[in-house]
Amino acid sequence: MFKGKKILITGGTGSLGTALTRRLLSLDVEQIRIFSRNEYKQISMESELNDDRLRFLIGDIRDEKRLVRATEEVDIVFHAAALKHVPKVEYNPFEAVKTNVQGSQNVIEACLANDVERAVCIGTDKAVSPLNTYGATKLLMEKLFVNAQQYSNPKIHPTKFFAVRYGNVFASSGSVIPRFIDQIKKQEEITITDKNMTRFSITMEQALDFILKATEIGNGTEIFIPKLKSYSLEQIYKVLSQLAETKNEKIIGIRPGEKLHELLINFDEMRYSWEFENLYMILNWQYNDNYLNTNYPGIKKFDSTETYSSNNTEPLTDDELKNNISNLGLL
Ligand SMILES: NC(=O)c1ccc[n+]([C@@H]2O[C@H](COP(=O)([O-])OP(=O)(O)OC[C@H]3O[C@@H](n4cnc5c(N)ncnc54)[C@H](OP(=O)(O)O)[C@@H]3O)[C@@H](O)[C@H]2O)c1
Repeated sequence: MFKGKKILITGGTGSLGTALTRRLLSLDVEQIRIFSRNEYKQISMESELNDDRLRFLIGDIRDEKRLVRATEEVDIVFHAAALKHVPKVEYNPFEAVKTNVQGSQNVIEACLANDVERAVCIGTDKAVSPLNTYGATKLLMEKLFVNAQQYSNPKIHPTKFFAVRYGNVFASSGSVIPRFIDQIKKQEEITITDKNMTRFSITMEQALDFILKATEIGNGTEIFIPKLKSYSLEQIYKVLSQLAETKNEKIIGIRPGEKLHELLINFDEMRYSWEFENLYMILNWQYNDNYLNTNYPGIKKFDSTETYSSNNTEPLTDDELKNNISNLGLL
């Protein structure tokens, strides 16, 4: 699927973009275009990866014209650029609409203009029944992508648009584990919002496997969701204090815009949710048995009367959590 392809990654210098670039380079792609704003991040990535299949395009996804140029002759687009820090987005909501919503529409327009084969947007559990502005803008991004098919007659524009949705990447920038580790190193109190808080857990490698698998099997209009385990803040605190041999906690209370538990599939979406190729999938298009069996051989209804939430999914064991934390090499 990826061999010999030209790929563009919006937000290619970010944590996901960089990891995805490394993985795709190992899959014999012809070219990867990294699309982002900050030249310094691009220079660092260019010298670190040092691969002549990489092209570094300065551009802002708010600029449709630039995106149309950037996607010429591209086969696959991964749309990862976003404003993603919940408090920042809460404080600057107009900016988040420009980047996460209008920017996503621009990506779609550019893909349609250049007949890109596949366009995948990177979504988040925070978009499910969203409580904060970040989640709401990412919900709109998903909606724009899964409904983009309506703007394209498949006989004229072949682009398949779909979304992937997953939870916090384990120890990604700004997340709770690096923050706790930083506090431990500075011998500060570990600031816990609520010990009962739970989150889905996905490592970067799992996220890459999942995104590439979804990209291969997507027919357009789907939201793909991985099968994930979860952890609680109490468990993180317990495991980290064992590893660092320290105990110093302060409960600060849940912050505005934060949920106690995250959802990957809400109650109403469950009606349209399926299991296919070891992933969950929400379908957003008219479908009948014939369509399903032709396009998704072996598909099964995801039969659950509950939501798919971080507090009703299997938790990681303490050993799995310890292992994941140790593998980070941060302690
Ligand atoms: N991290 C997680 O735990 C997680 C979980 C689920 C989903 N996601 C989603 O995954 C995607 C990638 O996340 P990440 O953790 O890799 O984020 P990140 O490290 O903050 O990277 C964001 C990237 O987007 C670029 N960018 C931001 N605004 C842009 C704009 N207007 N035009 C062009 N490029 C822009 C940034 O580069 P410049 O600043 O140089 O432009 C950077 O390359 C996001 O869409 C996020 O919502 C992340």
